[in-house]
Amino acid sequence: MPVLFEKTKINKMELKNRLIRSATHEAMADDDGFPTDRLFNLYERLAKGGVALIITGYTYVSRDGKFKSMLGIDRDEHISKYRELVNRVHENGCKIAIQLNHCGRQTTKEMTGTKPIAPSAVKDNSLFVMPRPMTEADIQRIIDAFVKAAVRAKESGFDAIQLHGAHGFLINQFLCPHTNLRKDKWGGSLENRMRFVTQIYNRVRKTLGEDYPILIKISAYDFMKKGLKPEEGLQMAESLSQMGFDGIEVSCGIGEDGGSTLRGDIPFDVIVDEWDMYKNKNFLFRYMIKKFGKKLLKPIPFEQGYNRESAKNIKNKVNAPIFVVGGMIEPAYMEEIIQNKEADYISLSRALVADPDFPEKIRQGSRKPSRCIHCNLCLFYLSTRSVRCYHGKRMKQS
Ligand SMILES: Cc1cc2nc3c(=O)[nH]c(=O)nc-3n(C[C@H](O)[C@H](O)[C@H](O)COP(=O)(O)O)c2cc1C
Ligand code: SF4
Repeated sequence: MPVLFEKTKINKMELKNRLIRSATHEAMADDDGFPTDRLFNLYERLAKGGVALIITGYTYVSRDGKFKSMLGIDRDEHISKYRELVNRVHENGCKIAIQLNHCGRQTTKEMTGTKPIAPSAVKDNSLFVMPRPMTEADIQRIIDAFVKAAVRAKESGFDAIQLHGAHGFLINQFLCPHTNLRKDKWGGSLENRMRFVTQIYNRVRKTLGEDYPILIKISAYDFMKKGLKPEEGLQMAESLSQMGFDGIEVSCGIGEDGGSTLRGDIPFDVIVDEWDMYKNKNFLFRYMIKKFGKKLLKPIPFEQGYNRESAKNIKNKVNAPIFVVGGMIEPAYMEEIIQNKEADYISLSRALVADPDFPEKIRQGSRKPSRCIHCNLCLFYLSTRSVRCYHGKRMKQS
């Protein structure tokens, strides 16, 4: 697989191969967002398993954008702990980027201690959250929080930052017309919807300098009726590249659109039994969701490389290096994408949850696909447990 193991450079960050650990929320942080020993061990394991770059699980920049057991970087006290984490990864021959995020409406009051905020008051029908629309002061405060978090990330020694602009979180909520109904300069045209991410980027770039790698993950489209369409996703990627982002990771979907982000099974029994917002509903509602959830929501079947086409279309138009994520399971398939220049990097999440040694096995010549079967239990157990492969291990109700 020589092409997957070519050395490359993103801005000043040198990478030993083209296999990336895509951001994966581990639920291994304490209540103040500090990484626990379990996270140190997991990253050491991943680094030893051969990926070139670990992108951390999403990390909140402000406490009103947090989720349960989520990493945080909203205070200077975090810096020394992250320095240790970065060192642990570097000692094992791997690079590490931190994914900066604010959940916006994709969290709950119980987790943030305050009513979740979003560009507009559009209810999230998966978490049953009606957010408070952000004021101008909120917007400036959160932009500021992203910039301060980015400064802390650089001080901690992270090799790069990645802004989370995908999957229905705050930056994506501004970009997506389903969640952004604003009539002011932050909503309406694509240019206006991009203003939030543009201002974050411009200020971070000015502060961190031209040679610090700034990456972004985007949803190139979603499945909401009034959501982001692929043509706009393409235009957005072109603008992000022109702006100066050093890499664009191409994903799709938002939390509410039927699991398009991951594809595969949606374990409704786990959701109803484990998620607080479902546990608190009455018996009949819970029964109906367990029994008919799949008929109502219609999970999108898994297919290998389901973002390949979007990534290829974007790659054809932009200069920034492209990371493709989503259902990459066969080494030969990944190699073909790189050889055809459809993307520059292959990002993996579940394949590495199932087997952190997957990259090293490929390097040693394995042609075997990942052993992940897309049951998605690793994601849906996250509301109460830490990340690991739960395949074949239904847990006792928590
Ligand atoms: C357990 C779990 C946690 C995830 N957490 C994040 C996250 O923190 N940030 C993010 O951008 N994507 C997150 N994702 C999405 C993945 O990064 C990736 O985009 C998606 O799973 C598709 O890639 P895959 O087929 O290789 O798993 C998560 C996925 C899983 C399974
Ligand atoms: S629990 Fe294991 S098999 Fe299921 S999606 Fe996650 S990694 Fe794959």
